[in-house]
Formats: sequence, C-alpha cells, structure tokens
Amino acid sequence: MSDLMKAVRLHAFGGAERLVYEDAPKPRLQAGQVLVRVHAVGLNPPDWYLREGYDMLPPEWRPRVAFPIIPGTDISGVVEAVADDVPDFTAGDEVYAMVRFPSGLAGESRAYAQYVSVPAGELALKPSATDHLHAAAAPMSGLTAWQFLISLGHDEPNPLQPFRHEPVPLAGKIVLVNGAAGGVGHLAVQLAKWKGATVIAVASGGNEAFLRDLGADEFIDYGRTRPEDSVRDVDLVVDAVGGAMTGRFLRTLKRGGALFPIFPLGFEGRDQAEMLGLTVSSTQVRSSGAQLAQIAPLLDDGTVRVAIDSVFPLAEARKAHERAAAGHIRGKIVLEVQR
Ligand SMILES: NC(=O)c1ccc[n+]([C@@H]2O[C@H](COP(=O)([O-])OP(=O)(O)OC[C@H]3O[C@@H](n4cnc5c(N)ncnc54)[C@H](OP(=O)(O)O)[C@@H]3O)[C@@H](O)[C@H]2O)c1
Repeated sequence: MSDLMKAVRLHAFGGAERLVYEDAPKPRLQAGQVLVRVHAVGLNPPDWYLREGYDMLPPEWRPRVAFPIIPGTDISGVVEAVADDVPDFTAGDEVYAMVRFPSGLAGESRAYAQYVSVPAGELALKPSATDHLHAAAAPMSGLTAWQFLISLGHDEPNPLQPFRHEPVPLAGKIVLVNGAAGGVGHLAVQLAKWKGATVIAVASGGNEAFLRDLGADEFIDYGRTRPEDSVRDVDLVVDAVGGAMTGRFLRTLKRGGALFPIFPLGFEGRDQAEMLGLTVSSTQVRSSGAQLAQIAPLLDDGTVRVAIDSVFPLAEARKAHERAAAGHIRGKIVLEVQR
C-alpha cells in the first residue's frame, strides 16, 4: 500500500487560496491510536482561524506551527487499522471524531485528508442510521453545545476563565440562543428543547422556518429587532456569536440567570454581571469519544438533527472556506473525501 495520501495542506498562513490539495505522507499508526479512512470532514471556525494564523488571539496564545500542516478536526469514516493496545475498535468499524482539539491547535489534527490517526479516546462509533456527511458535521458543534449545556465531562483547567464551567438546569427554563442557525447554535437549540426548555432563537430572517422546524418556540430576526431590547427574564442566554458585544444580553436575564458566550474573547462585563446577580461562563471545547457516544443515539433517533449548509469535494476545500467567509452559514459545511 502507498505511503502517500491526498490531503489539503497549508504551507503558509493566509487566505483560502493557501489550501493546497496534494500528496502528503499517510499518518503512521502509533500506540493508543486508530487509523481512520476518512469519508467526510466537517468544517468549523478554528479551521479558518488556523489558516489565518490565529491572528485574533493574543500573540502569546498563538500556536507555533511547523509547515506544512493539515487543518481540520471533524471526521467520519471507517477504521483501517488499530494499534495493538486499543481494545475498543476493529477494522471496518464506522466511526466519527473531533480529532485532537485543543491539543492539535498547531495543525496535528489532520482532518482534511484521506486518512487520519485518532487517539482512541477521541473516537466513537458513528451513529449507524446517520450517513458520513451528517456524522462528520456533528462533532465540534455537538461537543461544544454538549459541554456548555449538558456536561463538561472533564477536569482540565479552563483557559478562558479561572473557574470550571458548569452547565445550568434547563427543564422548565427560558433559554435564548443567539446565532441559532449556525453550527453550534442549531444544535444548542435542540439540546435545550430535549432537556425541556422553552427556546427563543435569534438569527437572520431567512432562518425562521428552519429554526421553528428544529423546535424553537419563538424567533427573533436580529435584522428587524434587537433581542436585548425586546426580551426580558430569560434564565440562560447561549450566545453563539459572542465577542465584545455579548454583554448586551445581560439585561435580558433574570437575577440568578446565566450568560454563556461560546466565543468569550472581548467581553469586559464581569463586574456588571456580578452586580446584577448573573453568572457569565465559557469554556473551550475538548475532544471526547465518550460524549460523542452519548450524542450518537440522539442523532440516530432524530432528537438532534444536523443541518448541512453545503458539501464540497475535499479537493475544493478552498471553495468551502470561501463559502464560510461569505457568512450566514445554516448548519454545517462538509467536505466529501473522494476515493
Ligand atoms: N468555546 C469553544 O470551544 C467554541 C467551540 C466552537 C465554536 N466556538 C465559536 O463559536 C462561534 C460560533 O461557531 P459556529 O461553528 O456555530 O459558527 P457558524 O456556524 O458560522 O455560526 C455563526 C452563526 O451566527 C449567525 N450570526 C452572525 N451574526 C449574527 C448576529 N449579529 N446576531 C445573531 N446571529 C448572527 C450566522 O447566521 P445568520 O446571520 O444568518 O443568522 C451564523 O449562522 C464562533 O465564534 C466559534 O469560534 C467556540
């Protein structure tokens, strides 16, 4: 068998034109790992953050990179080979994973490729009734929504705040999801509904039917109405847009409520939140095969539906990144890997 595979690699940071489809060495299987033949790759914002050199992070946080690197984290595929010390998987198993996040921030993740080596603990059996495209679309967005809303699932230090992120009870609560049509947002809407919350979804106007179909009880078109001016007494805001503007949601919360910015960088309102009796908490998503195994039955029975915005061949990853840059992503962008 050839030692080469097709992959999309970066030889320098920059725009989408930096993504080069070419031959690359096939990953070697090491102890504790599983070699997966990739069928589909799900895209996520860290893919373009890495491509751009993480220039929105403070310089001391930027990962050091040795080019060429293969970007990407989310895959669905079939097990090709298993290290001797891995008892849980067998060649031929259909699997999905978020590979090496955040440990592979510098590009060791290798998802944009025909093959990827995956630490066994990051892998789960693919939901059997879900195709590879939808399974590859789920991991990072699904794990992010899960770790914010359902269970953190680990005790690693939180790089975004000095305390552990704790999900809050959802049953009978009012939850507002901002950025509800995006990757994390549309799954957060469905997990909150599954746990018994009433959900207010905030997105651009064209997404109303999409989000009501996923279970949203109320819809706010942010192009017409500013949610911070029209909503009060919410128990939890999940802000999947986040950033410096996230503090505007503090006034929508009832005392004792919580704001979870999925992207917290730039938020300065912790003192104000404390004065108002509100919790503000965030976390960084981490790979977890165990949690993907918990999410799999929800995908298979339709409790959680992953929406696909668009599909591109792996060789056209550049076009997929251009689609992402155009914004207003509804659900997920996926790459299909040619055989
Ligand atoms: N903490 C973590 O570990 C973690 C993990 C994953 C992602 N993230 C971060 O979370 C954010 C969301 O990620 P994602 O994968 O869900 O991205 P995404 O798929 O691009 O979704 C973003 C959504 O926000 C919507 N949006 C844009 N401007 C808006 C506004 N002003 N008000 C309301 N909605 C708006 C967009 O659609 P419309 O404008 O059409 O409604 C889009 O659907 C990113 O910043 C990402 O880096 C953090």
